Amino acid sequence: MLVTKEEIFKRFWYPVMPTSQMSEQPQGFELLGQKIVLWLDDLGQPAVASDRCCHRSAQLSKGKVIDGNLVCPYHGWRFDGSGVCVKVPQLEDNSQIPKTYQINTFLAQERYGYVWVCLGEPLNGIPEIAEAKDPSFRLIPEFYETWHCAGLRVMENEFDLAHPTFVHTTTFGSEAHPVPDAIEVRETEYGITGTATLGVVNPEQQQKNLKMDEGITTRVLDLDWYLPFTCKLRINYLNGLVHIIVNTTTPINDSASQIVQFCLRNDTEADVKAKDVVAFDRAVTLEDKAVLETTDYDVPLDIKIEQHMMTDKPGILMRRKLSKLLASNK
Ligand code: FES
Ligand SMILES: [Fe+2]
Repeated sequence: MLVTKEEIFKRFWYPVMPTSQMSEQPQGFELLGQKIVLWLDDLGQPAVASDRCCHRSAQLSKGKVIDGNLVCPYHGWRFDGSGVCVKVPQLEDNSQIPKTYQINTFLAQERYGYVWVCLGEPLNGIPEIAEAKDPSFRLIPEFYETWHCAGLRVMENEFDLAHPTFVHTTTFGSEAHPVPDAIEVRETEYGITGTATLGVVNPEQQQKNLKMDEGITTRVLDLDWYLPFTCKLRINYLNGLVHIIVNTTTPINDSASQIVQFCLRNDTEADVKAKDVVAFDRAVTLEDKAVLETTDYDVPLDIKIEQHMMTDKPGILMRRKLSKLLASNK
């Protein structure tokens, strides 16, 4: 599956930039092979457009923002948040600006500390993460970086409970638990949902983060995958601590994904410093990245093409669900 060849992926929301990175300057990004520019409009709301001026195709993200309008770096035409050209410095009377002086804009909204963008008519809303509204949870932004692999590989990896023993050898993988103690997954309207239990190693660094002295522990997991590239992994520890990982692999193009990960925890900064939480998840994530970047980015949805084992059930369900989605759009 090549994401840029399937128009339907334009109809989903993706987080493309942390809100904190939206400065006074326009920001460029590539989403599904489409170059876009993001800026804050006159109301301070995120605006998104094609990163290409309608005059001579100059890249607008190399320009600037004045009074919430995007200013082209080539001849200074200005565009408002709806893409309408509101000033042509070479024209004496700007009320004469032709209506065709316009750039394509896209939908944008802020959620969970990120600007989410949809390039088409949305099929679904932004995934609802209930704990993000729960005051007993704090949200910690974790990673925002490009990985050279398909987003689907990362989604499958999140729910693949056979890989920790081999991949997470310096973090939580346990040789005593090469397979999960239990796993159940089923299809939903939005993707898949399920539960699992996995015995894991609990190294010293993580013992402090979890407030648990034991060298081994058990993760009771609630799994949710939202079409096409967002997953939520709620890790429930036996002492009541909950650590939720939300990860979207925003598709840049066929071979690269922007990893956007944050976590939610029902503890406080006084209990455990956010930087220590991020440090452990950083080590885990780098272990995944090293192996995932070696995989083929053209992931076959036809399950006859790659080989499978029983722990691949979530991945098989994801491929079937995506196959149906693509078929429904033909
Ligand atoms: S190319 Fe943008 S104003 Fe000329
Ligand atoms: Fe992993």
